[in-house]
Amino acid sequence: MRIVRQIDELRRAAADFPGLAFVPTMGNLHDGHLALMQLARERARHVCASIFVNRLQFAPSEDFESYPRSFEADCARLRAASLDLLFAPDETVLYPEPQTFVVEPPTIAGELEGHFRPRFFHGVATVVLKLLNCVQPRIAVFGKKDYQQLHLIRAMVRQFDLPVEIVAGETVREADGLAMSSRNAYLSATERAEAPHLQRVLQKVKAGMECAEAVQILTARGWKPDYLEVRRRSDLAAPEAGDQERVVLAAARLGSTRLIDNLEF
Ligand code: PAJ
Repeated sequence: MRIVRQIDELRRAAADFPGLAFVPTMGNLHDGHLALMQLARERARHVCASIFVNRLQFAPSEDFESYPRSFEADCARLRAASLDLLFAPDETVLYPEPQTFVVEPPTIAGELEGHFRPRFFHGVATVVLKLLNCVQPRIAVFGKKDYQQLHLIRAMVRQFDLPVEIVAGETVREADGLAMSSRNAYLSATERAEAPHLQRVLQKVKAGMECAEAVQILTARGWKPDYLEVRRRSDLAAPEAGDQERVVLAAARLGSTRLIDNLEF
């Protein structure tokens, strides 16, 4: 596995791997990330990942400084997954000057996650556009765990005519149903035992329960839900009668940890 830290170095290395598949991450890799690498491997001869904790997508009140960083362990996992190339730029490489040009996402970016994290998708879209320009992969893989992120990246690629195919990976879960996430490490033992209830309540919504009742259940169990809403899958708009393909999306705080999850139905 080649580890490159500079953009010119990355471009030279990528030229040796035509038809690259790319998996962007913020590191602290778990089996969910590794499943995306595996999916990338099935779709392409060569796989590139990136590890970059993107300050632009964290609000000042959020956990940028404390976000778990585990570069050596991540490299070991990526080597074991026989990754070809890892792009791990310093902040001064991706943001050598203040990033005054930013991607302005559509209004859906102000709903759901975006309602609670106002500049989040500006930061995500901007860094993903930069990373795609740096790596210039044939395909890029994103997880359904971050459902709204996946939707917005697909829309950005379509509207900016970026020459990359976006591939979606299913959410990888712990045995008890909790979606894997770097932020699960913040949970205390009691919170960790409670955490699978987020997915359980989404399953109840899939089975017909009203969202308001699901919110009440979570609240009664000690969660602080930000949102729990059913949307239609195609554009994440409010579903209309006859929309068959739906997804329920939720974010809720357990203690000081904010978890998100979703379920298609
Ligand atoms: P990060 O949270 O590190 O996630 C990297 C990729 O892994 C994303 O596509 C995410 O959806 C996927 N992922 C996370 N948990 C997963 C799980 N349990 N199962 C399957 N896939 C999972 O998402 C980001 O980083 C950043 O916003 C990024 C796109 C890298 C831009 O900075």
